[in-house]
Amino acid sequence: MKIASLISRIEASKTLQVKEKALELKAKGLKVIDLTAGEPDFPTPDFICAAGIEAIKQGFTKYTANNGIPELRKRITEKLKTENGLEYTPEQIIVSSGAKQSILNALLAILDDGDEVILPSPYWVSYPEQIKIAGGRPVLVDTSHHAFKITPQLLAMNITEKTRAFILNSPCNPTGVIYSREELKDLAVILKKHDIWIITDEIYEKIIFDDSEHVSIGTFGDLINKSILINGVSKTYSMTGWRLGYAAGPLPVVKAMSKIQSHYTSNASSISQKAALAAYNGPAAEIEKMRKIFEQRRNFVQAKLDSRPYLSYVYPQGAFYFFINVSRVFNNGKGDQKISNSVEFATYLAEKFQLVTVPGIAFGADDYIRISFAASQEQLEQGVEGLIKGMDQLMQAKM
Ligand SMILES: Cc1ncc(COP(=O)(O)O)c(C=O)c1O
Repeated sequence: MKIASLISRIEASKTLQVKEKALELKAKGLKVIDLTAGEPDFPTPDFICAAGIEAIKQGFTKYTANNGIPELRKRITEKLKTENGLEYTPEQIIVSSGAKQSILNALLAILDDGDEVILPSPYWVSYPEQIKIAGGRPVLVDTSHHAFKITPQLLAMNITEKTRAFILNSPCNPTGVIYSREELKDLAVILKKHDIWIITDEIYEKIIFDDSEHVSIGTFGDLINKSILINGVSKTYSMTGWRLGYAAGPLPVVKAMSKIQSHYTSNASSISQKAALAAYNGPAAEIEKMRKIFEQRRNFVQAKLDSRPYLSYVYPQGAFYFFINVSRVFNNGKGDQKISNSVEFATYLAEKFQLVTVPGIAFGADDYIRISFAASQEQLEQGVEGLIKGMDQLMQAKM
């Protein structure tokens, strides 16, 4: 029987091979150190869980308005105003089953077949495939020689007649870079001149370090009228499993997204919506506690990596990943020992050190691996030790 041609155009997960290796080792009874997590390792705070339980007890377990309960949408507009300086009405908010759905809704709402979407690379794994699902064509822009940020020049160079959207992800997964106010202002100059949607994924906005600030690109001039802002509770409140994200944008695009959502998932979980409302109304200290721990872990891993001058990485100002360049040891070994790409390197770490990482090819950067510091101190210590040993051995193989 026939399967849609779209399926052959979407890539299966490039990380599967390494994950399978890890499962195989686990099945053999070996202790595996997993540094692949894309989610905080903390439990969802108690007061948020209590709101979910209360929703169930109150029988709040039925369909809600397609775009989300009015009180949550209103609360989101307040958050966007006070924290991000952006004015929206509740009608301009659509709550979905995770930010991932919000992004796909947005792409489906704005793309026609063959439309181009400018995507700075390295990128979050799902963007290119979601663009393709929506009929678009990802235009990857390598940022690795520009401090992992798209510059106004690079952006301008890649705009064509067919460009329909630009995806901005700050703080960025996998690199942890954050665009400064100045950098955004410079990008805004270009974006103002063109009829292009900006999908601004701000899901990691609260996980930022040092004296970094998170700025929404919609605050520059009238860019709010061209932006579809994506955010949610997954990372900030450690609520990944609750599946709750949202988009904010101009009314016509939100209406278009609502039409689409109404025919595939309808509203996000009623229970999760109540829990998200509690999260937004809850004490900021809870998020600060988690943020601080992430920062301590970031500093810990950084100090370890700095012990080896040949280990270069992107300095994470936000999110919870280290994106590490391991290409120095490519092609060093002999025969079976020879490693020439990120999947082989990650497989080597899994086999020799029971350390599971994500190969950079999954994010469009084959010289890198990604390790997550959403892991316990013990796992981080063992994991980074494994990585350093692995690198040391391959460095020596060169001599
Ligand atoms: C950059 C980025 N955007 C969006 C998402 C999806 O978030 P959610 O769990 O709310 O669907 C993730 C999750 O890994 C992410 O890293």
